[in-house]
Amino acid sequence: EKGPYRHFMLKEIHEQPDAVSRVVGQFIDRGAGTLAVHTPLSFDFAALPRLTVSACGTAYLAGAVGKYWFERYARLPVDIDVASEFRYRQPPLEPNGLAMFISQSGETADTLAALPYCADNGQHIASVVNVEESTIARESGSVFPLRCGPEIGVASTKAFTTQLTTLACLSLVAGRARGVLSGADVEALIEALNRLPGALAEALRAEPDIAEIARRLTKARNALFLGRGSLFPIALEGALKLKEISYIHSEGYAAGELKHGPIALVDETIPVIVIAPSDELTEKTISNMQEVCARGGRIILITDAQGAETHGAMAAEIIVMPQVHPFIAPIVAAVAIQLLAYHTAVQLGADVDQPRNLAKSVTVE
Ligand code: M6R
Repeated sequence: EKGPYRHFMLKEIHEQPDAVSRVVGQFIDRGAGTLAVHTPLSFDFAALPRLTVSACGTAYLAGAVGKYWFERYARLPVDIDVASEFRYRQPPLEPNGLAMFISQSGETADTLAALPYCADNGQHIASVVNVEESTIARESGSVFPLRCGPEIGVASTKAFTTQLTTLACLSLVAGRARGVLSGADVEALIEALNRLPGALAEALRAEPDIAEIARRLTKARNALFLGRGSLFPIALEGALKLKEISYIHSEGYAAGELKHGPIALVDETIPVIVIAPSDELTEKTISNMQEVCARGGRIILITDAQGAETHGAMAAEIIVMPQVHPFIAPIVAAVAIQLLAYHTAVQLGADVDQPRNLAKSVTVE
């Protein structure tokens, strides 16, 4: 039931602080402040030559963020592809690698079809799913359940942030097992994860401001989302979310790709949503933002208080997210792009829970 919420999507957006808190509890002993994995692992992170991820849509984009984390914190090479391409590509797989399938429903046809190829080619099989009785879960050696409750809105929200949180936790488990992260490194990153539920609750408090910004976004026919590093897949997710529920054409780009083509689109009619919380790459993204400004583009900047103070002057509108460790910043920014898409779609009178032409679970190819 929707309770006090107008749509399931909004209810599910608001469930995220509790949902991610439960995920963190599956991987971290909060009292001791140490990693404590509840799922028995059918593989050894220390021995993996490579991680191969297959998924579709938003689940794929969660995996794309995960790639940044596994490579950085565990020095584990990651290949990721949309399942519909992976399944027909017949990629060579190194023996004893880990194949990971990410799916809310656990029934997506292409993701499911990619699994036997990996099993037949010497991979351990792991899945990150919400529906624990699903086919993908049943065919996996290790299952990491999201346990975020049924997701009714066609647009994935709480499944996405719980997928991200699961991957973030697993990247630390892998980093520790592979001897990449020291005890002190892990402690700082665990502290960041412990702060995540509170940070998402704080992010939700920006909703009235975001709804106001959305009012102006409804006038746009096209929108561009930019991000760098682990925020790049969040830019892609921002564009996916906006287009699927509001029907405004939107594209996500790696900020550094701007001058390789998309900047040709920029004029005063196109809102450019720049996702740039404070981290080691902020300056780079901001210089791309300057290029957009110089061509008359209207910037909506998603950042934190520090970013707003330093770089806010250039933006037409600013969405201020809580100041967090860069590790969890993509999960926090996800809330901002979800609320932006939601309020834009609602103000356009769209059916946000059941967008045209879409099914919740894509069980045919
Ligand atoms: O059930 P799955 O996670 O496998 O579904 C994957 C995609 O179909 C899904 O994420 C889709 O892209 C959503 N509509 C995005 O909001």
